[in-house]
Amino acid sequence: MSQTYLEAAVEIAREAGKVLREELERPPDIAYKGDFDLVTQADRRSEKVIVERLQKYFPRHAIAAEEGTGRDTDSEFRWHVDPLDGTTNFAHGYPCFCVSMALAHKGQLLLGVIYNPVYDELFGGARGDGATFNGKKIHCSKIATLKDSLLCTGFPNHKRESHPNIHYYWDFTLRSHGVRRDGSAALDLAYVAAGRFDAFWEFGLNPWDTAAGVLLVEEAGGTVSDLEGQPYRLGGKTILASNGLIHGEMKQVAAEIAKSNKATL
Ligand code: IPD
Ligand code: CA
Ligand code: CA
Repeated sequence: MSQTYLEAAVEIAREAGKVLREELERPPDIAYKGDFDLVTQADRRSEKVIVERLQKYFPRHAIAAEEGTGRDTDSEFRWHVDPLDGTTNFAHGYPCFCVSMALAHKGQLLLGVIYNPVYDELFGGARGDGATFNGKKIHCSKIATLKDSLLCTGFPNHKRESHPNIHYYWDFTLRSHGVRRDGSAALDLAYVAAGRFDAFWEFGLNPWDTAAGVLLVEEAGGTVSDLEGQPYRLGGKTILASNGLIHGEMKQVAAEIAKSNKATL
């Protein structure tokens, strides 16, 4: 059953990706949801394609989509849709953005698809069946210590001046090979699943940012929790996703930083 849903999600994500590629050729049409929170015509057009197609294929399913055109139903199935994750990158022509779609049943993630249309990179997976990159099985990395790891994180586009993550960024940078800040949480998670990054953390993400990536990391053999090591809940305050091997070290360092008074959550 999940495979049928997965095939539909792959088809729809590719369709939405076509729209993003088309829009990338045009001058960006930017509006602001907050001081630094951008939205473009590409976000809206991509969401339209996704929501219309999901409604056609699965008329009873609920859809939670970032730009607000989804719908609530009493179905036990709910799609989590980010039609364009990495809008700021998109608006500047930086080719690090994607479509992210996940399906949950009674709150349990069943599948996830993350598609970067510029590089034609598709990450997908269904619960119990593993995760793939362009059709080939992927696994999280085997890096066993923080000092040998490549990490990534992201920064919110609200309350930027006072956000504690800069302290985590600084500390983890000094303890690892480095910390990347690519601007697409969904791709960051997909890259942990594919072993390109060894761990990712962030504060304040929404369910549509993380749902697909969480499924992929878990199916690729990794671990997902909050920064304190408690089970991750969609829309929770923090997320920590890793290859599993450095999860304990990451958690411990995060606890030290939180205690150091430099950073309050
Ligand atoms: C954003 C990206 C970014 C993260 C922000 C998100 P959007 O999503 O995932 O990496 O740091 O917190 O809001 O707005 O580009 O869909
Ligand atoms: Ca997003
Ligand atoms: Ca978005």
